[in-house]
Amino acid sequence: MLHPMDETVISVGGETPYDVVVSADPFGALPELVKGAARAAVLFAPPVASHVGRVVRALADAGIAITVIEIPDAESGKTIETAQRVWARLGDAGFTRTDAVVGVGGGAATDLAGFVAACWLRGVRWVPVATSLAGMVDAAVGGKTGVNIAAGKNLVGAFHPPSGVLCPISALQTLPQTQMRAGLAEVVKGGFIADPAILTLIEGDPAGALDPASPVLRELVERKIRVKARVVAEDLRESGLREILNYGHTMAHAIEKVERYRWRHGDAVSVGLMYAALLGRRTGRIDVVDRTRAILTSLNLPVTYRRDAWDLLLPAMRVDKKARGTALRFVLLRDVGKPETVRIDDETLLRDAYEELTT
Ligand SMILES: NC(=O)c1ccc[n+]([C@@H]2O[C@H](COP(=O)([O-])OP(=O)(O)OC[C@H]3O[C@@H](n4cnc5c(N)ncnc54)[C@H](O)[C@@H]3O)[C@@H](O)[C@H]2O)c1
Repeated sequence: MLHPMDETVISVGGETPYDVVVSADPFGALPELVKGAARAAVLFAPPVASHVGRVVRALADAGIAITVIEIPDAESGKTIETAQRVWARLGDAGFTRTDAVVGVGGGAATDLAGFVAACWLRGVRWVPVATSLAGMVDAAVGGKTGVNIAAGKNLVGAFHPPSGVLCPISALQTLPQTQMRAGLAEVVKGGFIADPAILTLIEGDPAGALDPASPVLRELVERKIRVKARVVAEDLRESGLREILNYGHTMAHAIEKVERYRWRHGDAVSVGLMYAALLGRRTGRIDVVDRTRAILTSLNLPVTYRRDAWDLLLPAMRVDKKARGTALRFVLLRDVGKPETVRIDDETLLRDAYEELTT
């Protein structure tokens, strides 16, 4: 396969290694990733319709028969009902074990596509084409797939690594700014837990970090993908190291629940990163409070939350699906790039840190 000049390939190791291809237009890599497939299903939601043509052309040029399937957008598409509808289409088209599923879109669409692929004939190949920033730097990398059910988000799913991931940077041109900024919260998280150069890059040029045409954004995408790739290669099934990706997420998940999932995940993560920084300072760890606030504010991300919510947030944190037993677990920083998991039972400490988040 010819590699265009602007292409970066990041390998994700582990039991089933695969590559993440980042470039303006990485679609040429698709046929190789589904080699041997006679058919491919291309799943997408309406907001990314303008990007589907390039995916379809790359597959059709390689002689692959394509079934294009439109799914409902965002979380409303990430359901068992959508999966059932897609499986019915695969059945009609005679999809076999050597055929493939391609999901084009944000994290919701690629999570659904991966789940559809994980279950069809007990697992066929799939390729996420991540078109949102959050999708590129987080959801599409790592092999977690799933759907939401009435009992909660992401409660049903499977670990099913893709055969490769495409990150078409050019697609970010159509991504709304609010989604760009939400995706950047995960990028900032990656800077604090593993790659301080991410933080320096944003501090040097926050406008560039929000600009899809900027080399700064491109470097941030690649650096954050490398962080996630390193972690999931060591711990696909979330039994240890992968927990560091939860930095800022204990509070973020609680805020999402209290807000009934009307807040963007990235905005909740932003507030969660502030809370983790405040807890870290209060427990005698490194003080990154001012730095965290300055970086998040420069990206127009929220850094405070409403004062009256503590009585809802504390129980919500206790039932976080990543909690173990009754103790609250937080990822905190010994130093930038040195996260550790901490159990905290002291409610006064937790509340005092929260007070600082509301001012
Ligand atoms: N599998 C994992 O490890 C993992 C990790 C993190 C998040 N997730 C999941 O990812 C989802 C969040 O991902 P998200 O933030 O990308 O949200 P999303 O998939 O809901 O996308 C946000 C919105 O942006 C639109 N969009 C995407 N790309 C676009 C583009 N280029 N131009 C215009 N519009 C575009 C989408 O259609 C949607 O309307 C959640 O469901 C979350 O659970 C999964």
